[in-house]
Amino acid sequence: MRSTLMGMLLVMGMILAACGGAAPAPPAAQPEAPVGGAVGVTTTDLTGISSDITDPPAVFNAEAARQYSGTTLSFYGDAVGLGSDMDKAMAAKFSEETGINVTVLPRPQDATEFYAQIQRFFQAQSTETDVFMMDVIWPGAFATHLYDVSSIFADEAKLHYPGIVENNTVDGKLTALPWFGDFGMLFYRTDLLQEYGYDAPPTTWDELEEIAQKVQEGERAKGNPNFVGFVWQGAAYEGLTCNLLEWFYSQEGGTFLQDGAVTINNPQAVAALERAAGWVGGISPSGVVSYREEDARNVFQGGNAMFMRNWPYAYSAGNTDDSPIKGKFDVAPLPVTDSGSPAGTVGGWQLAISDYSRNKDAAVEFVRYATSPQMQKWRALVGTFVPTIPVVSEDPEVLEAMPFLQNLSPVVRVTRPSRETGELYNEASTIIFQSANEALLGSTSAADALAQAEQQLQRLVR
Ligand code: GLC
Repeated sequence: MRSTLMGMLLVMGMILAACGGAAPAPPAAQPEAPVGGAVGVTTTDLTGISSDITDPPAVFNAEAARQYSGTTLSFYGDAVGLGSDMDKAMAAKFSEETGINVTVLPRPQDATEFYAQIQRFFQAQSTETDVFMMDVIWPGAFATHLYDVSSIFADEAKLHYPGIVENNTVDGKLTALPWFGDFGMLFYRTDLLQEYGYDAPPTTWDELEEIAQKVQEGERAKGNPNFVGFVWQGAAYEGLTCNLLEWFYSQEGGTFLQDGAVTINNPQAVAALERAAGWVGGISPSGVVSYREEDARNVFQGGNAMFMRNWPYAYSAGNTDDSPIKGKFDVAPLPVTDSGSPAGTVGGWQLAISDYSRNKDAAVEFVRYATSPQMQKWRALVGTFVPTIPVVSEDPEVLEAMPFLQNLSPVVRVTRPSRETGELYNEASTIIFQSANEALLGSTSAADALAQAEQQLQRLVR
């Protein structure tokens, strides 16, 4: 019971934070949400969901969808971890039961590159893609190109945490249904922690540095020259903005912008960026300045890193049968300084339909299936994708598959300033990650990088 509650608190904290700024996990649980009788989902539908990657849930809306049989949809699906195979299995199941063909195009792994690609599609009013994965930070930028699903998915929207639905609503228009949530966390090797004499993962950045250094030296001395202490996302793209937000927030350096004012340039933020720049070529490989999620995961999953910052998808990927670190790692809150709060950046993806799609009705049926409670449970069990539906996050089997939903409840869920900056968010984030990347590369100091970012952001948001 206690664990269920903790899980709820964690996810609720995440969602609350998605409404703007940062929020600690709230003190009280939400009243029980109905499972969604309006869309024909009852609690019993959440039993008997397979945890097999080849066995997605039955298409409960197949009958309605079959009227569009013969249509071909194209879906910009996932490309990281188990996501890509899961999307193919889901699409195949849907096609088999409805006669609607779904072509899955893997998205660019780099969220910033994906953004640029979608922007080009929309500028050209391209009819080529029907359904898109939509990052939690994008609704403000893309709303005018997205099919308004406010009334079509009025019942479905009620199933999800209200904060995410609000995030996806722009000027009263529901742009997308939530698909899964994300938050940043620290992955660590349990076997090595023990071997080197530590009984708990680090809670401060100083401790992380100490352990990373010690294990790196030890493993290299044992004959693995490639072993590194800590991997993360340092390339000049959206993922760096996420890492930076965690470093800053956990070291009392704020959240870049606050109440419309640019706050990125402050002594704590400078110190946090200096600290990270000091990791490059030390406890982190020099190449980390061009790492994205999958680069970090490849190193960690290959058994060549003590710590990794990443999203929940890396948990299921690291525990597959062929993973060298299966059962040898766990997750913890990202560290803090003595006085900061542990922070995890809120991420997550929605499913949206292009307003230029010629197959909107079939696309609606596909999105209905893909974001459903049953599908979210399957995705949680197989791929450790964080549910956006309370009844799914509270499900005992889900909590067992994703223990971190319970264990990381004190972590503050910090949001990027996408609601504040709206369609300017991508530009704001680009200023932030480019400046930070220069400091990581050593081509400028942390102080100069943040002074430059401050000036550029002031010009952008004024
Ligand atoms: C994850 C998050 C997304 C974020 C991206 C950055 O996919 O879910 O919100 O923008 O990482 O790389």
